[in-house]
Amino acid sequence: MNKHDSERICGMLESLGASAVDSIDECDIVIYLTCCVREAADVRLYGQASSIKNVPLRKGSPLKTRILAIGGCIGQRDSDKLKSIVGNVDVVFGTHNIGHLPALLEDSIENGKTVVEVLEESSGFPTDLPTHREKPWAAWLPITIGCNNFCSYCIVPYVRGREKSRTMEDIVEEAIKYKSEGVLELTLLGQNVNSYGRDLYGDSKFYDLLCKIDELGFARLRFATSHPKDISDDVIKAFGSLKSLQPALHLPVQSGSDRILKEMNRKYTADYYLGLIGKLRSARPDVALSTDIIVGFPGETQEDFVATYKLVDKVKYHQVFTFIYSKREGTPAAKIVDNTPKDLIQKRFDSLVELVADRANELNQQDLNSTMDVLFEGASKKDANVLVGKSPKNQTVHVELGNKKASDFTGKILPVKISEAKTWYLKGDLLAV
Ligand code: 5AD
Ligand code: SF4
Repeated sequence: MNKHDSERICGMLESLGASAVDSIDECDIVIYLTCCVREAADVRLYGQASSIKNVPLRKGSPLKTRILAIGGCIGQRDSDKLKSIVGNVDVVFGTHNIGHLPALLEDSIENGKTVVEVLEESSGFPTDLPTHREKPWAAWLPITIGCNNFCSYCIVPYVRGREKSRTMEDIVEEAIKYKSEGVLELTLLGQNVNSYGRDLYGDSKFYDLLCKIDELGFARLRFATSHPKDISDDVIKAFGSLKSLQPALHLPVQSGSDRILKEMNRKYTADYYLGLIGKLRSARPDVALSTDIIVGFPGETQEDFVATYKLVDKVKYHQVFTFIYSKREGTPAAKIVDNTPKDLIQKRFDSLVELVADRANELNQQDLNSTMDVLFEGASKKDANVLVGKSPKNQTVHVELGNKKASDFTGKILPVKISEAKTWYLKGDLLAV
């Protein structure tokens, strides 16, 4: 969601004559679009933002001093307080008013003052803002904003507000525009896409929406994120019936212990979750699964952790995003007293990460010698001789370029024969080139 919001901010400022640059020394305005889901992101912002004005302004800048804007979730949460925490901030904005950013910047520059605007709620869905897509062949399409779930550890509902859906007509219209612009891969976005439409239509219309978008004929359709309590049988079956829907699903489980799931207010059990996985694999046997896990939720016992470990072992995920629990003030979980030693939590975390890597490697080995369509994204940042792309299952695929040029393949979907399988990527050769 933040990546998409950044694309909107770039689009807005570019339409006013600004352009994005790669380094701090080259820029006149720095905008931090922040996240406060875990503490590490907070700490990083404060460290960087406080030192940014020490970097000299580029020669020829029309400004007297570099402008620093901080917005998104931390802006929403801290609002005026940011002025004392980050003394040199010029503009503070929240999650509901990114469309006002150009006006706020202008006000700060013209009047030489710090401008703070944080709204309680957004007046509508920010759909009419220009977007600069980072990858011309891929587009994010937000279908809901906010979240009503209040998982006990999570700050998102407090900084992103209640769930609001966009009308189906509006979404389809934007999708049609992307199709006409040559977008190959469309990703529908929301904190919980499965409850799409409840506020507008009384009931979730996510399956209907998927069918409508599928008819538009994108090469690849994806969505994120799903809540296990809300994913319906229709949506599960769609993985077997909709042509453009790719065989990859991110289904955050958070924990394998029913006791912890209850404490987390997740509203499902481990068995229910495993039942969903069974149904998904019947609908689409080759579906690749990914998940989020929190290790060290307050009061997590060895028994609770073992339940999580066993669930991960059983499901066999292609990718697991593992997080150590981070206390977020204002959430119900922050009030739970926990005396679990930090090194024990770290040990549990490390053992889970090891298991995840083993399972991911085993799964990737199954694709050895197969041929798959790869959407190429360009040369690797680490090695200019390697072309990088994504498989339908969202695996990273590497192809040696040899004497070929990366730009000839970027933004194209081409068949690749897999010759080597590693834990986090596959290697292969382009066919028919
Ligand atoms: N501590 C650790 N991880 C968290 N997440 C959300 N809140 C916290 C927290 N307080 C994780 C969840 C969620 C992902 C986006 O971030 O796993 O699915
Ligand atoms: Fe946070 Fe839960 Fe909402 Fe996801 S569903 S954003 S974890 S409250």
